[in-house]
Amino acid sequence: MAALPRITLVATGGTIAGLAPAGAGAFEYQAGALAAEALLQALPQAGELARLGSETLFSLDSKDLEPTHWLRLIARLRDLLAQPEVDGIVVTHGTDTLEETACALDLCLPRGKPVILTAAMRPASAPGADGPLNLLQAIRAAATPELGACGPLVAAGDRLWRARDIGKRHTHAVDALGAFAEGPLGLFRGTALHLGASPTAAAALFSDALPERLPWVDILPGYAGAAPSLIDAAVADGAEGLVLALAGHGSVPERWLPALARAAARVPVVRASRIPAGGVWPQANFDDAAHGLIAAGSRSAWQARVLLSFGLARGLGKDALAGLFAT
Ligand code: SIN
Repeated sequence: MAALPRITLVATGGTIAGLAPAGAGAFEYQAGALAAEALLQALPQAGELARLGSETLFSLDSKDLEPTHWLRLIARLRDLLAQPEVDGIVVTHGTDTLEETACALDLCLPRGKPVILTAAMRPASAPGADGPLNLLQAIRAAATPELGACGPLVAAGDRLWRARDIGKRHTHAVDALGAFAEGPLGLFRGTALHLGASPTAAAALFSDALPERLPWVDILPGYAGAAPSLIDAAVADGAEGLVLALAGHGSVPERWLPALARAAARVPVVRASRIPAGGVWPQANFDDAAHGLIAAGSRSAWQARVLLSFGLARGLGKDALAGLFAT
């Protein structure tokens, strides 16, 4: 019998590692309380799918993750992926900012070995905790070598998603993670994985040395009556790029135009949407070229911010950044 694949679990925190005191209400728990080893100890069946190692990189609620954590996580995962004795990786994470970390990993991790993120909406100590099955399914995906070509994936709620297609869609329902651009790549039934289409190769956009820091990019929401002074204030505060999370198909309020022209003369400005699906397409609903804006394409505002930060860190100018968003 072939030896089982060797999978390393890297824990970063989140509700999947959350613990609630006895008798606590549904929302009274500490995220990231359990270390990676404890998550595996509670899941003896995982030993039937893979030979498992584990490490706890962070024990954080994902609302407290910063871009510096993305850089540390990417560096550690690059190290692990370079080790011949690692066949695949599972990363446990909070659901709140999963789509941002997933995007950062998608941009920067080499392809070849599966990297599967997973999360949960209910703490490990809750009745009906969703973490154990999500983790088991993530291990199954990480032990599936052909998924290594796809770039990082997310296993949650019986589904397997591409990292850039995922977003949090509900504040408390157990199936909170859902699609932004495309539907899931595959479905789990227990620990069996059924892939809808052959996984396709997608190269990492940034495979070079990591920057020491990521330039600061602000997200500005569009809403009825939003003041254009927000735009000037963000640039004056030192934002090195802006992402607009606008209504509809990236609809720019008329009274923002003068402030946007001032901002776009100084920093790259990406036109995205606050709507959780569909994206914002170049020259659609707005003359991006005439106003010097970049359309976010199929990326959510949150993922557009991550992409813009990494593009700026590489020193790309506006045209090259627009090219990145067009990929
Ligand atoms: C977090 O994002 O760390 C807390 C919430 C969750 O994991 O669902």
